[in-house]
Amino acid sequence: MTAQKILVTGGAGYIGSHACVALLEAGYDVVVVDNLSNSRAESLARVKTITGKTLTLVLADIRDKQALTEIFSEHKIYAVMHFAGLKAVGESCVQPIRYYQNNVYGTLVLTEVMQEFAVKKMIFSSSATVYGEPDTVKYSEDLPVFGATNPYGKSKAMIEDILRDLSTADVLTKASHPWEIILLRYFNPMGAHQSGLIGEDPNGIPNNLVPYVSQVAVGKLAQLSVFGGDYPTIDGTGVRDYIHVVDLVKGHLAALKALDDSSLNIRCKAYNLGAGKGYSVLQIIAAFERVTGKTINYKIVERRSGDVAENYADPGLALRELNWKTEKNLDDMVEDTWRWQSQNPNGYH
Ligand code: NAD
Ligand code: WQD
Repeated sequence: MTAQKILVTGGAGYIGSHACVALLEAGYDVVVVDNLSNSRAESLARVKTITGKTLTLVLADIRDKQALTEIFSEHKIYAVMHFAGLKAVGESCVQPIRYYQNNVYGTLVLTEVMQEFAVKKMIFSSSATVYGEPDTVKYSEDLPVFGATNPYGKSKAMIEDILRDLSTADVLTKASHPWEIILLRYFNPMGAHQSGLIGEDPNGIPNNLVPYVSQVAVGKLAQLSVFGGDYPTIDGTGVRDYIHVVDLVKGHLAALKALDDSSLNIRCKAYNLGAGKGYSVLQIIAAFERVTGKTINYKIVERRSGDVAENYADPGLALRELNWKTEKNLDDMVEDTWRWQSQNPNGYH
């Protein structure tokens, strides 16, 4: 039997490169399309080292319809894992056009070409950010998703809407070959492949907590600013649901399998990918100190605007329907982050 071929958009990036490893190890063939706007091809060279397998990299932008058409003409694609997108919350607030152009328009071009080639299975990288600021700390999929507070989050909510509309159109037209789409709402991905060969390689000074703390631990940055010490949480600092990137990509493989489960009959459905448990900023710092044996220099400063005090996933739906749950704990996440960071202090550079 020939292997199913998966098109991975944004496959050279942090999560996409881990997805490539998981797909190749599970016996899929992989075609990556990436414009390397936030990544390096070296990540995919390392994917090959880890797996001992090859993949195809097409250097192109997903907004380039002709390039996508060529990919679908040349390769018999079974399904698309759609990671390509810009993801920096603060940057999206000052460059909204760029974010909507890249994320929303890029997805429109991609889905248009997929539809032309009758490839209608997609796993989309959404985000817990689509929940905005609900009145609860435990987010389940039935919460409304129109409260995103920044253009990045809104672009994810808009894409979810577009994908739901594609599915509705199939119902209206009684399509014989309907779209099958899973929207995966990630909580806070961290960690790296156990080999230490691939991991998160942010450009410039990191915006997110984990890459910042690990760069303090490795001596690249002097001090972490802890944004707010007076939240109504366990120790006053923000609480989030951190999920190991390897668990996260296993959730994508589970989603791919679920599309073939006729008892689920998925047309367009959202699932949270999180651990269902939160850790505070100070707990993350303590875990890094424990694992690395280094002291993390930090200072509590003002809250960051747009932050909520606490959130974590209700991961029950993914367990019941995708048969997926996280397997790794906080120490695993920190150990793997640290192996990647200490072996590659300058990332792929
Ligand atoms: P990343 O920046 O490491 O990877 C994204 C990849 O997409 C990069 O390789 C980039 O070069 C590529 N890309 C961007 N725009 C493109 C375009 N127009 N055409 C072709 N390639 C393009 O980010 P990541 O952390 O791996 O995130 C992957 C996806 O998951 C993104 O859609 C992101 O919004 C989403 N997500 C990430 C997080 C997180 O905290 N990392 C959380 C929730 C959701
Ligand atoms: C985590 C906690 C901060 C940095 C973001 C996006 C979200 C998703 C994941 C893509 C918070 C605190 C942080 C620092 C700190 N990405 N912090 N000092 O904000 O939960 O989620 O990334 O979809 O959409 O919004 O993650 O890592 O930035 O913050 O104290 O230097 O760490 O206040 O409590 P966040 P984060």
